[in-house]
Amino acid sequence: MSLTEHRILGEHRGQLVAIEGQQDVPFEVKRVFYIYGTQPDAPRGNHSHHQTRQYLISVNGSCKVTLDDGKQKVTYDLNQPNIGLLQDALVWGVMHDFSADCVLLVLASEHYDESDYIRNYNDFLKVVGI
Ligand code: TYD
Repeated sequence: MSLTEHRILGEHRGQLVAIEGQQDVPFEVKRVFYIYGTQPDAPRGNHSHHQTRQYLISVNGSCKVTLDDGKQKVTYDLNQPNIGLLQDALVWGVMHDFSADCVLLVLASEHYDESDYIRNYNDFLKVVGI
């Protein structure tokens, strides 16, 4: 669980940020999804995964992400398009305080599988042994 600042390949035409699977993110990227048009008072996430690791980048606008390993919660500001946040498996995540223009891009290590989700917080605490 840490923020990484990626190099911006900026020049007179504009900006470009490249993220390589298994290099800039510590997994092979099997799935990409993005969240936008989110209401500021409507948090998303509120779950953990058994296996899936995720890498979150607010490519436009800003949001906050609170990660919780069962012992401590840390809130990260995703407010630059070249900042990424790794959410490991078995970490509870809540995305919140979305700006109206936020586009939150998520790179995931696994294909979508509902059985990989832990959607109940007490179940999550049991799984992580707390
Ligand atoms: P959900 O996981 O509830 O979103 P969030 O946790 O961000 O609030 O997903 C919303 C819906 O989208 C739900 O019906 C599952 C579906 N979905 C997919 O089909 N594929 C995906 O990769 C994701 C992330 C969600």
